Amino acid sequence: MKILGIETSCDETGVAVYDTADGLRAHAVYSQIALHAQYGGVVPELASRDHVRKTLPLIRQTLAEAGLSTTDIDGIAYTAGPGLVGALLVGAGVARSLAWSLDVPAIAVHHMEGHLLAPLMDDAEQRAALHAGRAPEPFVALLVSGGHTQLVGVDGIGRYRLLGETLDDAAGEAFDKTAKLMGLPYPGGPQLAALAGQGRPGAFKFSRPMTDRPGLDFSFSGLKTQVLLAWRDSDQSETTRADIARAFEDAVVDTLAIKCARALDATGFRRLVVSGGVGANLRLREKLHELAARRGAIVGFPPPVLCTDNGAMIAFAGALRLQAGQHEDLGVHVAPRWDMSTLPAVKLAATA
Ligand code: KG4
Ligand code: ZN
Repeated sequence: MKILGIETSCDETGVAVYDTADGLRAHAVYSQIALHAQYGGVVPELASRDHVRKTLPLIRQTLAEAGLSTTDIDGIAYTAGPGLVGALLVGAGVARSLAWSLDVPAIAVHHMEGHLLAPLMDDAEQRAALHAGRAPEPFVALLVSGGHTQLVGVDGIGRYRLLGETLDDAAGEAFDKTAKLMGLPYPGGPQLAALAGQGRPGAFKFSRPMTDRPGLDFSFSGLKTQVLLAWRDSDQSETTRADIARAFEDAVVDTLAIKCARALDATGFRRLVVSGGVGANLRLREKLHELAARRGAIVGFPPPVLCTDNGAMIAFAGALRLQAGQHEDLGVHVAPRWDMSTLPAVKLAATA
């Protein structure tokens, strides 16, 4: 079964073809970063207009790369939420119309479910087991993006328990805002991370918020203030900027790792998967690999290009739901806010 996936929830147009037999056939992402950079953040109306410009050319490009034509496609999955409503409507409108004209089902996918399942797509054994109808071993998912920071207990596909989430800024948002206040251009997250690589560990020390009390929630907005004060009172040299970046990254990474360990304890699961843009962070990957090794647990990350927003994760989640017989009626449905725990379960046999 070949599924076309379309992602337009924010500032990236992502298109992919996922084949349940062969895995990912082709995928392309067009980032609008340059368009929004001069405003220092995403401008929703500009995002929608750019998705209008880019979605069809990217579909043509992706199909050509996969060596397929529209008539080879068995279903079209699109991000129906959460996200910017205008941006979502572009992808949903294109997907729904194309599905209607090709007489194939359209599948509305939850963006965070896409992120959450992306690490399974990259594991050939897991993929094969899922498509053969076998449920994955339950796992803890750490979803860390620009809009979300959540720990989710995954009891099965579509069976999600929110274990903890941020009470204020998302981890990626904290990276972006911290980068901005030290003068790095938008979106600063990856640049701050690169700068942190040159910083000296321990030159500055920031707190690990909410780790001194029990619980799985996060709070990152106070860290921003700590950085602001440290930066304001410093010599503002390149070396200092790198040292502060390092201390900030260490604080976020330690905090995420402490809560991941607690979530594994709380659920009794021995598998952790990490996804969302901040999942591309190398120090986070290193730290969680160490944590897993110490505990005899397993940690999985999708490759960095599948951590940030992309069409492949949407095609994959859509394929699993379509295999379970779930798809949409003829309406164009989007949901800017959407609680993942309300998703229907996908019934699969228990793992052996
Ligand atoms: O998942 P994503 O592409 O979009 C959302 O759904 O939000 O995540 C984007 C976020 C941005 O905040 C970006 O700064 C952050 O992920 N990010 C990183 C890194 N790469 C992307 N943060 C820290 N280190 C990175 N290497
Ligand atoms: Zn995302």
